[in-house]
Amino acid sequence: MFHDIPRAMIDRMRQLEQADAADRDDGTERMKRLRQIPPDTGKFIALLAAGAPEGKFIEIGTSAGYSTMWLALACRAAGRKLTTFELLDEKVALARETFSQAGVEDVVELVHGDAREHLAEISDVAFCFLDAEKEIYADCYEAVIPNLVPGGLLIADNAINHAPTLQPMIDRALADSRVDAMVVPIGKGELVCRKR
Ligand SMILES: C[S@@+](CC[C@H](N)C(=O)[O-])C[C@H]1O[C@@H](n2cnc3c(N)ncnc32)[C@H](O)[C@@H]1O
Repeated sequence: MFHDIPRAMIDRMRQLEQADAADRDDGTERMKRLRQIPPDTGKFIALLAAGAPEGKFIEIGTSAGYSTMWLALACRAAGRKLTTFELLDEKVALARETFSQAGVEDVVELVHGDAREHLAEISDVAFCFLDAEKEIYADCYEAVIPNLVPGGLLIADNAINHAPTLQPMIDRALADSRVDAMVVPIGKGELVCRKR
């Protein structure tokens, strides 16, 4: 996956990494910032996705499609497709640009809208990456966990840097007998839940 990333995808990744870094320093307002995962988290979720069981891949919170590109590498390696959800018009436009430039439109479907309106109907989920507003994590968790296949994974970003907001949901996952879960100290902290 990581040894033969297409040139066009590497170029788009670099472009978005630079834009994201600039956002964090130049006073860009929060909802306009890309708020991307760092590259190590991208590799981590791609590795886990590539080994996920049979079933659907979903992502909640696309932004400009940076994390989606990492997941697209896993889709290529494992012969899967991914559906990613994004609410904001401006981010959807950037993500469409990303998917076209990176050449991943054949493995990525972008849904423009509130993921919460769709999650309950998505059965047989093998892999879910959750990276949206922290206030909706608990609702997304409760919607996705029942629909995970055995061995299916839900990974939630920001489990460490947003711990004060996310702690009730993290505690719920750690005590939830439907899953085995732990927080992995990579990037901003990844809550990894595997359905039993
Ligand atoms: C932290 S950013 C995602 C970053 C992206 N995963 C990456 O690493 O490249 C969160 C994104 O979730 C989107 N979002 C927030 N609530 C959402 C919802 N209910 N449904 C779909 N997208 C949502 C926001 O508009 C924002 O673009």
